[in-house]
This record gives sequence, C-alpha cells and structure tokens, in this order.
Amino acid sequence: MNKHSPLSAVLQPLNTANGLPNEHYIDPAVFAEEKQSVLFNNWSGIGFGKDVPEVGDAKPIEFLGMPLLLVRDHDGEVGVFQNTCRHRGMILVDKPRKILGAIRCPYHSWCYNLKGELRATPHVGGPGQNTHEDVKLDSLGLIRIRTYIWRDVIFANISGDAPAFEEVHSELMERWKDFDQPMHHGGEGASFRLDLAANWKLPVENYCESYHLPWVHPGLNSYSRLEDHYNVNELGKYSGQGTLVYRQFEGENGEKLDDFANLSSKWDEGAEYLVVYPNVLLGVQRDHGFAFVLEPVSAERTIEHIELYYVKKPEDAPEHETLREKNAALWKEVFEEDIFVVEGMQKGRHGVKFDGGRFSPAMDGPTHCFHHWVATQVEKGREA
Ligand code: FES
Ligand SMILES: [Fe+2]
Repeated sequence: MNKHSPLSAVLQPLNTANGLPNEHYIDPAVFAEEKQSVLFNNWSGIGFGKDVPEVGDAKPIEFLGMPLLLVRDHDGEVGVFQNTCRHRGMILVDKPRKILGAIRCPYHSWCYNLKGELRATPHVGGPGQNTHEDVKLDSLGLIRIRTYIWRDVIFANISGDAPAFEEVHSELMERWKDFDQPMHHGGEGASFRLDLAANWKLPVENYCESYHLPWVHPGLNSYSRLEDHYNVNELGKYSGQGTLVYRQFEGENGEKLDDFANLSSKWDEGAEYLVVYPNVLLGVQRDHGFAFVLEPVSAERTIEHIELYYVKKPEDAPEHETLREKNAALWKEVFEEDIFVVEGMQKGRHGVKFDGGRFSPAMDGPTHCFHHWVATQVEKGREA
C-alpha cells in the first residue's frame, strides 16, 4: 500500500515527463523518506576537508539531524564518526577544537584516539579498576561513517551500503580528470553561506540549467549567452551544464589568476557546472573551482555552503588578493541572484493544483535527469 503519489509520471522520457509532485518539496513525511532513500542511502556531501585543515582539528556537524564529528588524524586523513559516545550516548565534541591527545567524553571520561579507537575507560570495573573483562575496547570504537573526499568535498554514505564512490561517479571523475590536481581554498573571503527558504532540491534544479540566464543573470548573460551553453544529460548518473565562453578577467595591470597545470584545450574557454547527486554542486574553470554542499534542514529550508578554490594557497599568491576578491564578489552576486527564483519555486509548490510542471525538451534535460534519479531512489526505498 502506498499513500504517496506514484512517480511514474516523473520517470517518463523528458519530452512528456512531469516534475516531482509538490509533496516532495513541502511534506515533512516525504522529506523524512528522502532523507533515508535519497540522502543517507547514497553519497551525500556533508562538509569540506578544509573545515579540518590540520592534524587534531575536530569539528562537530549535524547532517539531517545526525550528529557527526569530522577529525583530521595523525596520518593527515579525515575521518567522520558518529559524534556519540559508546558508553551512555553522550555527545562527544560540542564545538570545533584542536585535539592532540584523546577525544575524551566529558561525561565519564572514556577516551578515543583520533582514529576513533576506544583507548581508556576509567573506573569501568569499579574504583581504581580501569578495565572490565566484559567491556572490550576493540569492539567499542566510535562508529565510523563511510566517506570519500573528492574536490575537497567530504561525501558520506550514512547507510554504509552504497556502491563505492569511485564506481558510482567513475564517468564524472573521468570527465574532469584534468582537474585532478592540488587546489587550495581561497581563505576567509572564499566561503559563503546562504540560508534559503526552499527544499534542498530546488537549488539543484536551478543550478543545473542555463535556461534562466537571460532573465535572472543579466550581467553574466552579457558575455555568456544562452547559445554559448550546452546541457549535460547523463541519465542515471549526473547532469548540469557547460559554457564555451569562460573568460578570465584581468586586474588593472593585465594580471590573471594562475591556471591549473596541463589542462586540455577544452578548458581554454570552457567551464562546467555539474551536480554530483544528490546534493553537491561543483564548478570547474581553468583558474579556479567551487563547490556547494546543500544542507537540507527541513522540507522548506536549506543552507548552502559554498567554497572557492584556487591553484595556489592565498599566502603563496598575495599579489592575486584583489583578483580573488573580485572573483568571489562576482560569484556571490550570481549566487544571490538565484535566491528569489529558488524561494519562488518553493512558494509555488504550495499551489495544490500544480502537477510537478513540464520540462522544456530542449532546455530542461539536466533538471529532468535529476528528477528521474531522485524518483528512482525514492522508488527503490519504497520497494525495499
Ligand atoms: S557517556 Fe561517554 S563516558 Fe559515559
Ligand atoms: Fe542561476
């Protein structure tokens, strides 16, 4: 028995499909369903490697209500753990801090190392007895979440049983292999956070199409027109769009940001903006990249975490500070221009007679690909 709308209309070919029904944007019960079948069962973005840059950095976050702890261990690896003590379930770390010794639970002082292994259990066998034969340290480590870091985004598969990230995203990673080289976060001015009164899927849908450019981004459209863009429709895999006229801007003395090394000529004037399903938006250009992690807060609220990356560390290219500032300001303007349409689509989904809408067969392929993928994940969850 299924009380939800069937998704067969969404799974039709692009030309005749409808979009996802309203309940996927406004109903808390469907939000909870998607949390499991779309976000926890796949590889969702939860944060960035740059959030824990140095050994011992620990940062607690919440993802869809789940408390998680990001830790950079002594090998320089980022680990993600459930931020819950294995003893009585106390939250272990409640604010970002540096931990060089142990992750010590503030309640009864059980201690874990930076790999999440339980190392000390004071008085667990009675006063002065720090061991007990029935409390086996090696079975009580922190619960480690499966992760994969790509382009500095920490992707997590909370359910633990999705196929490997490199398998799911092999074609996308191959497509962008030219950019598989070090990149560095642009520092304080390169982070933005936008709080949207919209379901998490709407910023995805808006990001993956260029159809709205002439009306929503007149500035951008003045040099990167509709006809300079192409759609990327990889049904079942990923989608988005690209431009053929990415132009580097110049500083007052003709200076430009540094390029990534050995890029193919496709990237001389090409740039691409793709969605890593479900909730990560990535952009690549010859001289910088960016990443959005969309944090779904509720059916009707999403926080966008946006980060810009460059070829060099800011401290190694102080002469480009003005260029980086200008670049950040340009993007910020574009991203802010999108807010009213994303929030407007959310409001529109309270129209009870809306049928999910129709797609332009020519322009909306990338959005349809995303809907098709989401509907497929939801159906999988309903069958299970
Ligand atoms: S709850 Fe953590 S040590 Fe008791
Ligand atoms: Fe836009």
